[in-house]
Amino acid sequence: MPDITLTTLQSLKQKGEKITMLTCYDATFAHAASQAGVEILLVGDSLGMVLQGHDSTLPVTNTDMAYHVACVKRGNQGALILADLPFMAYATLEQTFANSAQLMQAGAHMVKVEGAAWLADSIRQLAERGIPVCAHLGLTPQSVNILGGYKVQGRQEAQARQMRADAITLEQAGAAMILLECVPSELALEITQAVKIPVIGIGAGSACDGQVLVMHDMLGLSISGRVPKFVKNFMIGQPDIQSAFQAYVAAVKDVSFPAIEHGFSA
Ligand code: KIV
Repeated sequence: MPDITLTTLQSLKQKGEKITMLTCYDATFAHAASQAGVEILLVGDSLGMVLQGHDSTLPVTNTDMAYHVACVKRGNQGALILADLPFMAYATLEQTFANSAQLMQAGAHMVKVEGAAWLADSIRQLAERGIPVCAHLGLTPQSVNILGGYKVQGRQEAQARQMRADAITLEQAGAAMILLECVPSELALEITQAVKIPVIGIGAGSACDGQVLVMHDMLGLSISGRVPKFVKNFMIGQPDIQSAFQAYVAAVKDVSFPAIEHGFSA
């Protein structure tokens, strides 16, 4: 059991205190980030890009994910560990059960799936079997080939209406958390107010209940040199990585990050 549980996160939302999440893939960084006060360590399939050097998250396997979850678990000091189910690991119900079980047995406390209302049944069935689920909406990188690139989602009114409806459907199905990636700040605000479960944003403005960044991005590390608009380099002005993590936690908590310029308009 982590020190941070779903109950903790729910009560942070109710109190209006922002929730901090950071991606993490190994024991040493898990130790540093959780010691710095990061409440959720996301073992994201972004590891395919930042650790493995691929140009998308599609090559990542569930075996890769389970390995990194187990590493993070060994260094973690009380944060909640959220693990991505990678591309095609939840295409059928049987795969969803088996792959989620593998991640939970490796040390995850919650799994994350990318998609919309079509996931309602899987989310309901996982929750019934004791596995909390975070639903990732907006820019869903596993669908980059359908989306035609890494683009802001929900700018058109019909798309925005659909995303609001999907969030409510997935909450009703039993989702424990929603993650919104690259959606206009105003839409993220509406979704955050429309659901009772915590909503974590990345490129979704400051109104979400919490924030997440890819750890390498916020440490100023990049293979491509392209830095997304929503990223802030927290190493600037800090003597070491531990201090950068603490600065990130402080900035999310006092809502100085994300600033207006890190968000997207409709
Ligand atoms: O895989 C990941 O790191 C993610 C974040 C971009 C939210 O899903």
